Order: sequence, then structure tokens, then C-alpha cells
Amino acid sequence: MSYQDRGRFISQWEAGINPLSQFEQSFEGTRKVFHKPLSAIYQALFQKELARGDILALGIGTGQVEEMARVDSRRIRAIDVSIGFLNKARTKLPKAHFHQGRIQDVLPSLDHHSLAFSSDALDCINPLELGEVLSLIRKKTDKLVIAQVFMPDDEFYSFYFPRPGIGSHGGPGIDGWNQDQHTAAEQHLNNLRIISPINQPDSLLKEVQAAVHSKFNSEIKGDMVDLLDSIGFQFRTMPQIRNHRAYASEVDLFLEYIADYIGKMRENVLPRRPQPQEVAKYVAVHTIHRLSQLFHGTIQMELFFKTFEDACLKAGFTNIQRKALAASGDRIVNDPKIIENVNRSLLASTQLEIPASHIDHINSGSFTNGAAMTFFEPQSNPFNDARVQYLVAS
Ligand SMILES: C[S@@+](CC[C@H](N)C(=O)[O-])C[C@H]1O[C@@H](n2cnc3c(N)ncnc32)[C@H](O)[C@@H]1O
Repeated sequence: MSYQDRGRFISQWEAGINPLSQFEQSFEGTRKVFHKPLSAIYQALFQKELARGDILALGIGTGQVEEMARVDSRRIRAIDVSIGFLNKARTKLPKAHFHQGRIQDVLPSLDHHSLAFSSDALDCINPLELGEVLSLIRKKTDKLVIAQVFMPDDEFYSFYFPRPGIGSHGGPGIDGWNQDQHTAAEQHLNNLRIISPINQPDSLLKEVQAAVHSKFNSEIKGDMVDLLDSIGFQFRTMPQIRNHRAYASEVDLFLEYIADYIGKMRENVLPRRPQPQEVAKYVAVHTIHRLSQLFHGTIQMELFFKTFEDACLKAGFTNIQRKALAASGDRIVNDPKIIENVNRSLLASTQLEIPASHIDHINSGSFTNGAAMTFFEPQSNPFNDARVQYLVAS
């Protein structure tokens, strides 16, 4: 969705579509669930990339990230368009300086800062204005760190790619898989008795739907592929994206996850539920829904970073690096499975057991933005593993 005011782009935040209460439930709520690992990551990120000097915080929101990072609030000069969000940030970061307004409007009047940081906010900028905004940022800082944990806002893509379908970027996609990736994916497909190859997402999805139906002995009305087709979802072009290394691992993780998950649900959880069929339907819909999201989400995140890499170069930054940090509990880890495999954004949960008592609290809201491993998480259970991708431009 996108919002226009007298022809000017307005993000959903500026338009007030996403009020503070909703933000508290979604963004802040998800970060609370992953509080331990995300705090460890944000602290490490600030130590590694933003250790000394004043920081321009662009689109600071409620300041939750800076608070979790335990950054000395005296170092922060923050901009945000939302008065309500800023009021909350003032309580979290009492010694910071705040400016209410759009980054584009406020930045020209500010002094040069050695560092700039933006968490989950630059996707609110109209991508067609990105070059201009990044040039402005470049004039005011030597080093910009862009962290993105949640899926970029829809409007980012509807402006950048006027039509659905983002396959025009070309590239090897799954043709670039190595043999191990092929073997692992094939194994998972076999386990699920799915015969469609991984490079045919439409027929794969049909089979996943059928497999879920039969495993849970439960029918979902409607065909997910037809439904996605009808809204312009372009299956055939999806895997075609440059440097799309992690697509394979995402699919692989997904297959591993559903095989394991379905088994556990059938054996342990459903039999103990008063209305197992109802829960089964919910889980089935969720599973299928997540597969389509997985395809979409992986590509969207990839495009977000690629778009910013290109725009940063054009804006005059010369050294651009894509990085990621992962943590398990409150420890930073170098587990390649967490760091490499979960491409899409974010948070990987290795906790596959869902206590039966939590099944009714399965949260889809904030996790619609989630990664392969966070599909079915109950809101009340804290999770241990997280990963944050970021870009450093200097
Ligand atoms: C998803 S929130 C992220 C907030 C915070 N950085 C965080 O990670 O929790 C996006 C924030 O960007 C702000 N924002 C969006 N467009 C903006 C703009 N053009 N100028 C300044 N702030 C903007 C919104 O008001 C909102 O607080």
C-alpha cells in the first residue's frame, strides 16, 4: 500500500496508519520475545560499528533498539516523523536530542556527525527519492549503518516495482546451488513424499498443500496456488535473483521444519487438544501460507539490501559491506547455520517444541515478517536465537 498527499509520498508511519499501540504489539512485541539474543546483537553491533562518536539516529521510533543496545543516550541525535513515538523515545533515552520531522526535511539543518544509524526505518523512504536522501545523509556523516530485522514495508516495493513480480533481476538463483544443497532438499522432499522439484514452486506448493491435508486429515478450502496466481504472484520468476545464495537454504530449512513440525504436532500436540481438527486446519493454513511468504520474503529482503547497496554507492559512499550478527541466548555466535541459512530477516528459533498450552496463542501478526524458523511461535515463550542483517556504508 502507498499513501499520497498532494502527489507526495507518505509512508504509513507518517500517515498515522501504524499507531504507537500497533507498533508496541508488533515490532516491540517481537523484539521482546527475542529480547536476549537481540539485545546481545544490538550491543555487539554498536560496539563493533558505532563505538565512538555522536550518532545520528534516523527514524528512531520509540528508541527500543538503542535502549537494548545500551548506548549512552548523550551520544544520540534522533529524527523521527512521529510525535507519539518520539515521546516514548524521550523516556527511554533521556539525554538524547530529538527532532520531529521527516529525515529529508530535518537533516539539512543538522551538524555533521561521524556516525549514522537507522534500524528498520529507511524502508519508509520512497525508493525513488532514495538517491537524494542518501546523498543528504552522506553529507552529514562518514559512516552509515542500516539494520533491517523486519521485512521492509510493502510500500517500498510498490513504489520501486510498480507491478508485482520481481523476477527481472536475473541471475543464477537455484541454478547456483551446490550438490549438498540439492541433496539435502531432495531428501526433505522425499521425506514429505513430494515429487515436484524445488525449481517449480507452484507445483511444489500444490503438493505441500496436499501433503498437509493428508498428514492432518484436514481439508483447506481453496487452492493456494490459484489464490496466489489470482493476485499476481509470479511463481516462475521467483527464484531468479542475483546472488541469491540463501534461497536454497531457506527452502531447505522450511522443508526440514515442516517435516519435523508436522511429526511433532501429530504425535504430541493434536491428540491432547479438545478440537484437534480445528487446530490442525489452522496449522495447515499457516504452513502453506508461510511457504509462499518464504519465497516472497527472501527475495524482498535481498532486494532491500541490494537497492540500498546501489543507492549508497551512487550517493558517494565508497565502501559498502553487507554484514550479519547472530546470537544464541545472550551470547554472540558464529554458527553458520544461523548466520548464513536464515536469509530473510531475522530470527531463527531452534525451539521446535511448542507446549500444548501455548497452541492457542500462536502468533502470526508480528511473525508474518518472520523467518523460516519462526512460523509458529507462541507469543509467551521467549526464543533464543536471532540474526540481524545490516549494511555498513562509509
Ligand atoms: C518501523 S519503525 C522503526 C523504528 C525504530 N528505528 C525501531 O527500529 O524500532 C519506522 C520509523 O521510521 C519513522 N519514519 C518513517 N518515515 C520517516 C521519515 N521520512 N522521516 C523520519 N522518520 C520516518 C516512523 O515514524 C517510525 O518511527
